Amino acid sequence: MSEALLRVEALRVAYGHIPVVFGVDLDVAAGEIVALLGANGAGKTTTLRAISGIVRPTSGAVTFAGKRIDGTAAERIARLGVVHVPEGRGVFPSLLVDETLRLAGRGLPRNELASTLTRVYELFPRLDDRRRQAVGQLSGGERQMVALSRALLSKPTLLMIDEPSQGLAPIVCDQLFEVIGKLARDEGIAVLLVEQFVTRALALASRAYVLTKGEVSFAGTAAKLAADESFIASSYLGEVDDRAFAATLAPEDVDLAKAARRR
Ligand SMILES: Nc1ncnc2c1ncn2[C@@H]1O[C@H](COP(=O)(O)OP(=O)(O)OP(=O)(O)O)[C@@H](O)[C@H]1O
Ligand SMILES: [Mg+2]
Repeated sequence: MSEALLRVEALRVAYGHIPVVFGVDLDVAAGEIVALLGANGAGKTTTLRAISGIVRPTSGAVTFAGKRIDGTAAERIARLGVVHVPEGRGVFPSLLVDETLRLAGRGLPRNELASTLTRVYELFPRLDDRRRQAVGQLSGGERQMVALSRALLSKPTLLMIDEPSQGLAPIVCDQLFEVIGKLARDEGIAVLLVEQFVTRALALASRAYVLTKGEVSFAGTAAKLAADESFIASSYLGEVDDRAFAATLAPEDVDLAKAARRR
């Protein structure tokens, strides 16, 4: 592959004295969707944290748009256009939807803030209906939409999204994935997507990496990985079926899923 937007080389990360990421190499091209897969505890979140500057790598290099960013403060990395949507969503429950988004876009010129907000509410009509609602009162799916929208207000060149489908009904997850695909296709935003929903992630991504105990155990096209039956069938990456999922849903999410199906 030619010019990488993001290049991670020989990345090692430890928490205290305990190493958890052992020499990861990966890259993402501009506008490309890349899946980062792996079992619980494999080091996916830690890898994203190291790229976004939340944790400092022990060694290795992270290059974004031709510049070294390892060792750079997280806030500065975000301003460069590397925007991390964390696991668990990280949104303030007491803020209204509209306040949350305006706060995220506070650095933008007024015109750009307005046009980006319009775009975000177009992408997520569900949020448009809930502008004046506190984020804490939203369903899980809606909160994930807020988290993604907030990231968009930071004008990302690269979005790193950690398990957006967590706890969501498959149909809500499909909607989110559709929006993620649109962002890459229509706006040229590159995406590094951490997911447990392997088949969905591989359907969206062009390339994939699998982390196993802190090391890259597969790097290649999403199609190649999707065709690897033993990988797909392997229990640790197994998909939860719709019914098992539905049983874990909040009533608002069931409504959201039904509304999505009708659309
Ligand atoms: N803040 C922390 N302090 C100490 N150890 C941590 C910390 N965060 C994660 N770890 C450990 O680092 C390893 C990698 O964790 P990480 O969260 O990166 O995995 P993951 O691939 O994102 O897993 P999951 O799919 O469960 O989210 C795990 O063994 C975990 O227990
Ligand atoms: Mg994680």
